Amino acid sequence: MTIKRITVVGAGVMGRGIAYVSALSSFETTLVDISQQQLKAALENMKLLAEKAVAKKKLSKEQSSNLFNNLHTSLDLQAVVKETDFVIEAVPEKRELKKQVLETIDQYAPNHIIIASNTSTISPTELGSYTTRPNQVAAMHFFNPVHRMRLVEIVKGLETAPETVHIIREVAEQMGKETVEVKEFPGFVTSRISAMVGNEAFYMLQEGVASAEDIDKAIKLGLNYPMGPLELGDLVGLDTRLNNLKYLHETLGEKFRPAPLLEQYVKAGRLGRKTGRGVYEYTNEGERIPK
Ligand SMILES: NC(=O)c1ccc[n+]([C@@H]2O[C@H](COP(=O)([O-])OP(=O)(O)OC[C@H]3O[C@@H](n4cnc5c(N)ncnc54)[C@H](O)[C@@H]3O)[C@@H](O)[C@H]2O)c1
Repeated sequence: MTIKRITVVGAGVMGRGIAYVSALSSFETTLVDISQQQLKAALENMKLLAEKAVAKKKLSKEQSSNLFNNLHTSLDLQAVVKETDFVIEAVPEKRELKKQVLETIDQYAPNHIIIASNTSTISPTELGSYTTRPNQVAAMHFFNPVHRMRLVEIVKGLETAPETVHIIREVAEQMGKETVEVKEFPGFVTSRISAMVGNEAFYMLQEGVASAEDIDKAIKLGLNYPMGPLELGDLVGLDTRLNNLKYLHETLGEKFRPAPLLEQYVKAGRLGRKTGRGVYEYTNEGERIPK
């Protein structure tokens, strides 16, 4: 099967990145959200990204204009999925919400469609059970920022057909990504480790073991991580991190109990870069404000 048209559902941190890479890779791409404001912000964000890439000569002007010719936005999921080959769901990590979105896709999409979820933790078998075609559903887990991170984790559910995995791998490769196939287990490989490290860093911050800057510096320079766990949390979104931890706590037990300080930050609306404040503070352009 040849994939030509891709629909990305959710225009947040991940959806906009996936749509950018998808349109850049010549897929006719439609980004869908329930919020016009999010779609507008996503487009502005993608334009800025492309401008920077053109200025740095990582992208030609022609590639940039093709990208935006291939990219569309919509608030009408029902209409868009009728005309698509491949859906990537990237709405928040809440099972009820994913269920509702997958049911809608299932109701209106053509028979041949592949339904991939960018979930960080949730079982693709469970996600597949929300549709009448679990053989065409799997997790396709991208990383943030999508245009820079090379990996896609592919996780198949109990009923996922080998052909579905094959098509997802081909789409990921056309987007310039490397893939790994992971057995279904909560948090797969990467989210499980990342959530554990990120949560532990929050416990340390709460306990006053060191300042946020020093925790991040220690992990970067001492353990050779490219980013500190707290700055990574701000990039991921602290609400997203908390949702992942809640799911892992529920499925894998006590060792994933979210740090109370993380819960407090989320309650206070300190969600990270996307709200301008998380562990650190950011300008409107997303630059970190030094303390
Ligand atoms: N943030 C990360 O670093 C990261 C990395 C890998 C995977 N993920 C996963 O990607 C998914 C999305 O995370 P995110 O960080 O982009 O979330 P986000 O909160 O930044 O964005 C979610 C978007 O979905 C939209 N939305 C909500 N309900 C919708 C609906 N019914 N239909 C269409 N759009 C809807 C929201 O308006 C918002 O724009 C989650 O499953 C998350 O676990 C996140």
